[in-house]
Amino acid sequence: MMIEIVNGFVLLALAAGHAELWVAAINRVHAFRLSSAFLHWTRRLHDVALPCFPLVLLWRVGLMEGGVLRGGRWSQLPVGWQIVIAACAVGFVGLLVSVTRWQLRRRHSEPADSSERIDVAGELGGRPIGPGPYQVLARLPLNETFELEIAQKTLRLPRLPDALEGLRVLHLSDVHFLGTIDRPYFDFVFDRLARIQVDVIAFTGDLFDNLACRDWLTTTFARLEAPYGKLFILGNHDWYLDSPAIRRDMTALGWTDVGGISRTLEIRGEPILVAGSEYPWLGNRPQLPGRDEPQAPPLRLLLGHSPDDLPWARRHSVDLMLSGHNHGGQCILPVIGPVYSPSRFGVRYAGGTFVDPPTVLHVSRGLSGRHPLRWNCLPEVTVLTLRR
Ligand SMILES: [Fe+2]
Repeated sequence: MMIEIVNGFVLLALAAGHAELWVAAINRVHAFRLSSAFLHWTRRLHDVALPCFPLVLLWRVGLMEGGVLRGGRWSQLPVGWQIVIAACAVGFVGLLVSVTRWQLRRRHSEPADSSERIDVAGELGGRPIGPGPYQVLARLPLNETFELEIAQKTLRLPRLPDALEGLRVLHLSDVHFLGTIDRPYFDFVFDRLARIQVDVIAFTGDLFDNLACRDWLTTTFARLEAPYGKLFILGNHDWYLDSPAIRRDMTALGWTDVGGISRTLEIRGEPILVAGSEYPWLGNRPQLPGRDEPQAPPLRLLLGHSPDDLPWARRHSVDLMLSGHNHGGQCILPVIGPVYSPSRFGVRYAGGTFVDPPTVLHVSRGLSGRHPLRWNCLPEVTVLTLRR
C-alpha cells in the first residue's frame, strides 16, 4: 500500500513536470518572430494537453492492469511510456529549479521606494468592460486588471553624469488597446499620469491589439508631456498590425520614434545616447557607436521591447535598458511565482529591476495585456529616479 501512495505522488510530480514542459515551450515560442497562426495553434494544443494528459497518465500508467497504483512496476511499463515519463521527470526538475530561482530573487529584490495602488474600477463606479474579446476573463472575481500601481523606484547608474543626478523617467509599457478593457480605464490612468512631473517619458511597446482604438491616443498618449522628450518603440503586437501607421500616429502627437535606431539627446546640457530595439519583430537592433569613440555620449539608454536583449545590451555597454513584453507574468502564483512569460529566459525577467553590470534593466509589468486577467500582479507604471 505504501508503495502505491508513493507512486501516486510520483504521478502528481510527473503531471506537474508535463505542465512545466508545455509552459516552457509556450514561453519560448512567444519570444521569437513567429506567425500569429502558428502561435495560436500552439496555444490551442497547450490548452488541450494541459488538462488531458494527467487523466491519461493516471489511467494508463496508474490504474490500468499492471499500473503502478495497482501493484505494477515502473520498469514493466511500455518503452514509449518510459520515454514520456523520463521527459516529464526532466520537466519536474526544471520546475523545481525555476521555483527556487524565483524564491531567491524575490528575497533579494529591492522593493519600490514607494507606490500608490489605485482601484480604477472603484473610482469609475464599476469595471469598464467594452465589446472586445475575453470578456469572461475581465469579469472574473479578484481580477486586478482594472487596478493600477504607480511605483517610484531609484536606479543607481555608475556612469550617470553629475548634471543628470535625480533625472526622472516615466516608464510606461504594454497598453494593448483592444477594446475589452474599455477607454474609461485608460483615460483615468493617463489623467493621473499627466499630473506627474517627469523629465523624460519612455514607452516600450505593445500599443495596439485593435486599430479600431486608434483615436484613443487623443485622450491618452497625447496628454503626456515631458521637457526632454517622449520616446517610444513598438512591440510584437504592433508588428501584427499596421506598424507604420502606428508610428505616424505617435510621431504626429510629438513622440519620438527610436525603434531600430540610436540618436543623441541633450538633457540638461548633457548628451546621452538613446536607442531602441524592437528585435526580433520589427527591423534590426540599432547600431551603437563604440564606447571609446571620442564623441560617444557618457550615458546609454536603450528601450528594448523584450528583456531578451539584455545580453546584447551588456555587450554594447548600455547603462540603462527599459523593457516590457512579459507583463510580470500577469498571474503570480503562491510559492511557484509567475508562470507565463514570453521570453527565451522563461520567467527570469518577468518584471522588476535587474542589475547585471554594466547594465541596469527595468522590466515593467505593463498596464494591460491581450488577455485581461491579472492576479497578484498589478498593472504598473513606474517613475524611475536616476542616481549615481
Ligand atoms: Fe505586451
